[in-house]
Amino acid sequence: ADSLEEALASLEAGEPVLVHDAADREGETDVIYHADAVTPNAVARMRNDAGGLVCAALGHEVADAFDLPFYTEVIDHPATTDHDLGYDERSSFSLTVNHRDTYTGITDNDRSRTIRALADAAAAPHEVDFAAEFRTPGHVHLLKAAPDLLAQREGHTELGVALAEAADLPPAVVVCEMLDDETGEALSPVDARAYASRHDFPYLEGRQVLERLG
Ligand code: 5RP
Ligand code: ZN
Ligand code: CA
Ligand code: ZN
Repeated sequence: ADSLEEALASLEAGEPVLVHDAADREGETDVIYHADAVTPNAVARMRNDAGGLVCAALGHEVADAFDLPFYTEVIDHPATTDHDLGYDERSSFSLTVNHRDTYTGITDNDRSRTIRALADAAAAPHEVDFAAEFRTPGHVHLLKAAPDLLAQREGHTELGVALAEAADLPPAVVVCEMLDDETGEALSPVDARAYASRHDFPYLEGRQVLERLG
């Protein structure tokens, strides 16, 4: 694996990093960008090369400043009870959003617009009228980090936000799972590392982040 410093430098430079959480958790590798770096081309890379769900993860305080709840806390439907995930105690999903200046919200241009506006908003959360700028439902899934970040939860949500904070960037990142078209499963760590080295993107194991930032 590469070093934490390489990963922080990559995020600061607007390049992605790949982070595998843990074999005994999801066992998934997410492509992670700082939200401010998510150009239309970056959205296309996530769709085409990663293939998972494009989500924007926000720090807990930022999400609170925007009045963003955890999804399960606000949806009054029986399917939200008994949250029996195999790999964690709870999901980090919040609402889905589009920037109000988007049309359908799904195109690379629209998702980039939404995500970069989220990065701007996260840089000055108390100056933002969130509902004036974004609508829900939308095509970008928001994730809300745990209040005590890595001390409480070891998901890509918290790993990504912790990396942004360590790089002195606003706590807003975009994560997308690497999937394998051949097997129908998550891309294996071996294949994810090969992708990372082909593109010269840093690859980290979640435990490296936990050891240094947890
Ligand atoms: C949303 C997910 C991904 O796994 C993403 O990495 C965020 O979740 P977590 O924090 O649980 O790893 O399920 O597509
Ligand atoms: Zn997941
Ligand atoms: Ca693909
Ligand atoms: Zn994940």
